[in-house]
Amino acid sequence: MKYPDRQSHAPGDVIPLSSRLFEQLRDYILKRTGIFFQDNKHYLLQSRLNARLKALKLHAYEDYYAYITSPAGKGEFTRMVSAITINETYFFRSEEHFNIIQKSIIPRIIKQKENKPHSKIRIWSTACSGGDEPYTLAIILQHHFIKKYPHIQFEILASDIDPDIIQKAKKGIYNTYAIRNVPKHLLEKYFEQQGDLYKIKAEIAQHVAFKKINLADPMEMMSIHSVDLAICANVLIYFPNQVRQKVVSAIYNSLNAQGYFMVGFSETLFGIEHKFQKTRDGKSMTYQKR
Ligand SMILES: C[S@@+](CC[C@H](N)C(=O)[O-])C[C@H]1O[C@@H](n2cnc3c(N)ncnc32)[C@H](O)[C@@H]1O
Repeated sequence: MKYPDRQSHAPGDVIPLSSRLFEQLRDYILKRTGIFFQDNKHYLLQSRLNARLKALKLHAYEDYYAYITSPAGKGEFTRMVSAITINETYFFRSEEHFNIIQKSIIPRIIKQKENKPHSKIRIWSTACSGGDEPYTLAIILQHHFIKKYPHIQFEILASDIDPDIIQKAKKGIYNTYAIRNVPKHLLEKYFEQQGDLYKIKAEIAQHVAFKKINLADPMEMMSIHSVDLAICANVLIYFPNQVRQKVVSAIYNSLNAQGYFMVGFSETLFGIEHKFQKTRDGKSMTYQKR
């Protein structure tokens, strides 16, 4: 069979992605990950997947699509996810956001638990990327709460769809870009400098457990429960509204009664139907399960 856009290409070439294959691939990606590439993101998808085709020595997207949707290409799904996801993140990404967590949300959760012996506070970083967000939370808990409330245990679940980024997160090693917002006294206390890099110390890392969870997979989402605070920051933007809707209600179901939910600092649940009670905290919106 001859395909119109299948030709041989020099190593540096961009393999053309036809409109038909773009639509087929984006439907597949939407179904498997919840991520939607709009029409104007055609060339973005092409440039993200180009290296995958080269690595597999494929010359046409027909072959790539046939491969990834076949049993033999099962493992390619995770490589594709790593190629298409944006992992931009850093420690203390939004100071105001983490201030609200420290000054308002964690104290309120502690109050809910105070008279219950062997209490555990469970926090879920739902799109944790390289670990900067869950480790930031662990630093806040370690620095401000763990000694003060020895009878309460803290546990942070950090999840992402991208297995490569989870492996990186588990190593806990960061460059100066990632740690640029960490206050100096916290950097000195909770990181070990290794040349130009910074490794998160075990006393912080021990509070964080990593897991691969796809926000768009209802079965995987149902496995998470008893959460006191869930954070879903800077990821809902990649999903169309019907996926956002499902993700938000799955997170709602994962929370304990009166559990808290936060999206990214500049994000809201505007346009999404939900049962949360909203509270404005400074410039940020906090949601609480009723
Ligand atoms: C821009 S990063 C945000 C990281 C962090 N939450 C922050 O705000 O700094 C977006 C992350 O969402 C993850 N992601 C994308 N689609 C996902 C899905 N369906 N399920 C879980 N994680 C997903 C990506 O792999 C990426 O690590």
